[in-house]
Amino acid sequence: MPLIKSAAQVELMRESGRIVAKTLRLVSDKIAPGVTPVELDEYAHELIRAEGGVPSFLGYRGYPRATCISVNEVVVHGIPNTTPLEKGDIITLDFGVVKDGWHADSAWTYAVGDIKDEARRLMNVTRESLNQGIAKARPGNTIGDIGAAVQTYVERNGYNVVRDLVGHGIGEKLHDEPHNIPMYGKPGKGMKLLAGMTMCIEPMVNAGTWKVNQLDDEWTIVTADGRLAAHYEHTIHITPSGAEILTKE
Ligand code: MF3
Ligand code: CO
Repeated sequence: MPLIKSAAQVELMRESGRIVAKTLRLVSDKIAPGVTPVELDEYAHELIRAEGGVPSFLGYRGYPRATCISVNEVVVHGIPNTTPLEKGDIITLDFGVVKDGWHADSAWTYAVGDIKDEARRLMNVTRESLNQGIAKARPGNTIGDIGAAVQTYVERNGYNVVRDLVGHGIGEKLHDEPHNIPMYGKPGKGMKLLAGMTMCIEPMVNAGTWKVNQLDDEWTIVTADGRLAAHYEHTIHITPSGAEILTKE
């Protein structure tokens, strides 16, 4: 049963998750005005290789880089470019690592210098919505319970959850069963959660409309109204008593 991982398999994912978390911490320390996304991407790539890992995203459906770096109105899948970051930007680092055949994947949004209160609030609400979703990830609950918890929290705070992109199972593949883990939905609906499942919970939250557009590069997803977006993601393991976060040090 590919959905359920053995203790030994989870241990391998824990190691990949540790590398993701350490890399996020070290790369995020470099975020500052004037730094470019390409510089951050190359640093992440080096750090991942130094830990014996391989970037999961590089070459995935032809994706050209180790990381996705999404600035301001870019929701996800921003291709790192050479435009220097500016004070007041918000920037999401998103990447996965595969080591010994097992993947882990995480994303986090950061401030570039001082940012407006509105941007800070969007980041805080999105980060907390990830916690609300993870809190529902336990045996007996369903995928709908996770999405409903995220959506309720986000909408109560006046923002909107992206519909066109969803969380996903993860393991020997970056995107594995269960393939669709929406960050919106109804309590009690969808697949029942079982101990041993591993998945990515990843709310993408827009300040305005949930609608998004894809740019001509066929990767970059932007908010339809040009307002800000934030994105936080963890790889989790469902244990008999609740969720264990794998993308941590
Ligand atoms: N951001 C996606 C996720 O979290 C993965 C992007 S795949 C890539 O699942 F090819 F764009 F890198
Ligand atoms: Co993911």
